Amino acid sequence: MQNALADHAWWQHGVVYQIYPRSFQDGNGDGIGDLSGIIRRLDHLVALGVDAVWLSPIYPSPMADFGYDVADHCAIDPTFGTLEDFDRLIDAVHGRGLRLILDYVPNHTSDRHPWFVASRASRRSEQRDWYVWHDPAPDGGPPNNWLSEFGGPAWSLDAATSQYYYHAYLPEQPDLNWRHPAVRDAMLDVLRFWFRRGVDGFRVDAIHHLIEDEELRDNPPNPDWRPGMSPAKRVLRTHTMDQPEVHEAIMAMRRVADEFGDRVMIGEAYLPIDRLMAYYGSDLSGFHLPFNFHLIATPWQPAAIAALIDAYEAALPNGGWPNWVLGNHDRSRLASRLGPDQVRIAAMLLLTLRGTPTIYQGEEIGMSDVPIPPEQVQDPWERNVPGLGLGRDPVRTPMQWDGSAHAGFSPVSPWLPVAQDHAVVNVASQAADPRSVLALYQALLRLRRTRPALSIGSYQPIAADTAVLAYARRYGDEHLLVALNFGGTTATLRQVRPGRLLLSTELDRSGQVIRDRLELRPNEGCILEIGGPGLP
Ligand code: NOJ
Repeated sequence: MQNALADHAWWQHGVVYQIYPRSFQDGNGDGIGDLSGIIRRLDHLVALGVDAVWLSPIYPSPMADFGYDVADHCAIDPTFGTLEDFDRLIDAVHGRGLRLILDYVPNHTSDRHPWFVASRASRRSEQRDWYVWHDPAPDGGPPNNWLSEFGGPAWSLDAATSQYYYHAYLPEQPDLNWRHPAVRDAMLDVLRFWFRRGVDGFRVDAIHHLIEDEELRDNPPNPDWRPGMSPAKRVLRTHTMDQPEVHEAIMAMRRVADEFGDRVMIGEAYLPIDRLMAYYGSDLSGFHLPFNFHLIATPWQPAAIAALIDAYEAALPNGGWPNWVLGNHDRSRLASRLGPDQVRIAAMLLLTLRGTPTIYQGEEIGMSDVPIPPEQVQDPWERNVPGLGLGRDPVRTPMQWDGSAHAGFSPVSPWLPVAQDHAVVNVASQAADPRSVLALYQALLRLRRTRPALSIGSYQPIAADTAVLAYARRYGDEHLLVALNFGGTTATLRQVRPGRLLLSTELDRSGQVIRDRLELRPNEGCILEIGGPGLP
């Protein structure tokens, strides 16, 4: 097996696990997660069986957007620890055979970043053009109709210099001007700084927002906008997202990664499949993995998902490596989005599709979104645009390690409330239960490691009952069949070639021999090995 995988990069056959550092493990007793806490919990990731850890931002930040407002790209926020803690973390990660991926936030900085402080100080500041400044419209208002993702206009007036600056997100997150060569150089040096410290790759934040229309044309109105939708969607982001110049910038980032060899660049871009493909770059000179978020929004039913897989597979550029994401710190959790009955199906799907999967912390125990009372809301998006369900606090609550008062996350009351169900849904109790969701994730990840068909094999759809999604994964002689019952009643897959059950989502019938028909219980998924000893 080792040989089979040797032709592939670690980020192709590996599995990524996302840690949201504020909520993973508090190591110093202040109610907020940190690097020493992560070090303490690394063995959970080893037992789980993932290959790489991606950390959401850990850099110094006023935390207006919880770290996605970076005030210094080359240091660690004291809330999370120190550079020495970081070095300990990277050693501990590598010592366990894991890789470390950091978040890189190139689109904007904090308004407290020294670059912005200098930029706003005067119109004549040497760094004025490091950000996107413009004169007011003739009526004194913003230069155009561009809107902030987090509500309100995307322009804020700097009274002292009488110009507006652009921010795709909060006013506290001014956009960098990537058309300026000095910005580009400075930001590329940030990558080098961390690569030299041993980082194995980056997840690049909000890449589709990196560059805006130079002529500042108004965005057209969105005919599909309805009350209840995010106000930012009142206009189409025609001139503020996915501009052609972004690809040059991505290639420059990639060239830096290539200077160091064997590193991965992952891009965050919420785009339709055809436009997403351009993020692999011409001749694959862009991201290794432009995040594929399409499973998140596709209706949770077999025909729609089969069609998505086909469309994605067909659109991939030659040699482009696929990837799949089911959730992250910005999106509703699986148990809440799909219902608890489908959590195991989601796990089996994510970990058996062709391509690199990313697991968000807590999904491996089936955590749910936690309702946050208005007075405890932290997320600036929810504060700015309350009541529409846009807030992301519910998916960022502390990791549930055990059934104790604060779920083993912290000795004190944490920055966001712990889920009430933590007495039942937690790592310790699931580790002791051979049929838990955690046990299923572990079994799936073990299987991925030992069966190249699952990590690097081909994918072939199989026609099935309307409630069932079925496909084959093959590598050499290894022929696996995955069948997932999305329905709440029994389903049958007919004309199955004889095989042996490797894994059921219920973890109770491995080894069963299947001849001709595979009966799936409600919400059950199975992985079958076709053929094998004693079978035709
Ligand atoms: C995407 C990140 O995932 C999100 O959490 C953040 O608020 C925005 N980018 C802005 O950086």
